[in-house]
Amino acid sequence: MTGDDLQELTRGALEEIAGASDPDQLELVRRKYMARHGGLITAGAAALATVDGDGRAELGRAFNLAKSTVQQALHTRQLELASGGRAADAEREWLDLSHPGAGLDRGHQHPVARLVREIEDIMARLGYESVRGPEIEDDLHNFQLLNMPPEHPARDTHDTFYLAGAEAAWLFRTHTSPVQMRTMLSGRPPFRIIVPGKVARRDNPDPTHIPVFHQVEGLCVDRGVTVGDLKGTLEYLLRALFGPERKVRLRASFFPYTEPSLEADVACGICQGSGCRSCLGKGWMEILGSGMVHPQVLRNGGVDPEQFSGFAFGMGPDRIAVLRYGLPDVRELYENDLRLLEQF
Ligand code: DAH
Repeated sequence: MTGDDLQELTRGALEEIAGASDPDQLELVRRKYMARHGGLITAGAAALATVDGDGRAELGRAFNLAKSTVQQALHTRQLELASGGRAADAEREWLDLSHPGAGLDRGHQHPVARLVREIEDIMARLGYESVRGPEIEDDLHNFQLLNMPPEHPARDTHDTFYLAGAEAAWLFRTHTSPVQMRTMLSGRPPFRIIVPGKVARRDNPDPTHIPVFHQVEGLCVDRGVTVGDLKGTLEYLLRALFGPERKVRLRASFFPYTEPSLEADVACGICQGSGCRSCLGKGWMEILGSGMVHPQVLRNGGVDPEQFSGFAFGMGPDRIAVLRYGLPDVRELYENDLRLLEQF
């Protein structure tokens, strides 16, 4: 081995050291040139023994220079790679202490619950108190006191869930109207109440029907209440709910517990009245039944129809939600799909 050989080796070592991109690679380079046994440069020590005199001293200097040069380069590169690693760590583990917190995920009200609240708020402005009644009812309050004696044909539209095994005829209320009776029977007029709650009917589910749904009942009984009051109240409520632009129509209808009876329809929110799958081609969605409380119903509630009159209405907030938000199918409200629910 000569001094030139050592220079050549040193150049090669420096190149490879510079090219090592991580500590493992660098270690391989170190072993290749500097391993105690078999390193390309350390082998120079053995070569020294074979040379004499001046040549030996010269080769010795070249050998020491090569060793220290390569060692220095290894050390420097090692530091570079290590600090590069730390920089990468720092990059990866970077923490922005000024970043605002993520906040807690909070639940919120279901769109139908929100709507019920809204209806309660609107009616509260007109002096209506919100009350509740039992979901499990008896035949007397759900039907008989509302002018639907046994065998009355109007019962057909109330496909009723009866409670099996019960001694008396208990049922899941088919509407919130029985709470009218409970209110009248337990107090004295005037009454101004709003009654939100769940009701159930044995309907087959379709885009506009679900077997358990919601109603909000309203009842106003006082001296001198007229159809004009009923219309004015409904108009106020529907405008507040749907905005003044939405088309609303009132039609004559029939309920055994009101005379006269009216139904309110709102233009379908999906097709704006031209008829689609959601409104079953009608262009309108029926959202509310109402009328002047039948004198016999007042009497059944212990109210004297000679002194008092009143109006009542019942509506379906599920349908109102469908109309308001343009949902294609009422069942979507109860599928617990967060993609839908999180929009409200
Ligand atoms: N109970 C009716 C229904 O379930 C809605 C209704 C109609 C309620 C007329 C009323 C009313 O209070 O006066 O379809």
